[in-house]
Amino acid sequence: MAKRITLDHVNAYYGKFHAIDDLSLVIEANAITAFIGPSCCGKST
Ligand SMILES: Nc1ncnc2c1ncn2[C@@H]1O[C@H](COP(=O)(O)OP(=O)(O)O)[C@@H](O)[C@H]1O
Ligand SMILES: [Mg+2]
Repeated sequence: MAKRITLDHVNAYYGKFHAIDDLSLVIEANAITAFIGPSCCGKST
């Protein structure tokens, strides 16, 4: 069964660098989802 991905107040650090700050989002199953933003904004992370 297809499942969604839910992020709830996620933070990510590279050492002391705070790369992802309090990110909450839902990626729905069977839907095309794109992350769009400038270089180094945290898309890949
Ligand atoms: N392995 C790493 N070590 C340290 N800093 C990193 C590393 N990977 C990414 N970063 C930093 O985290 C931030 C987000 O990077 P990234 O997720 O690659 O952005 P994007 O994919 O939007 O270009 C940038 O400031 C980048 O320099
Ligand atoms: Mg990237």
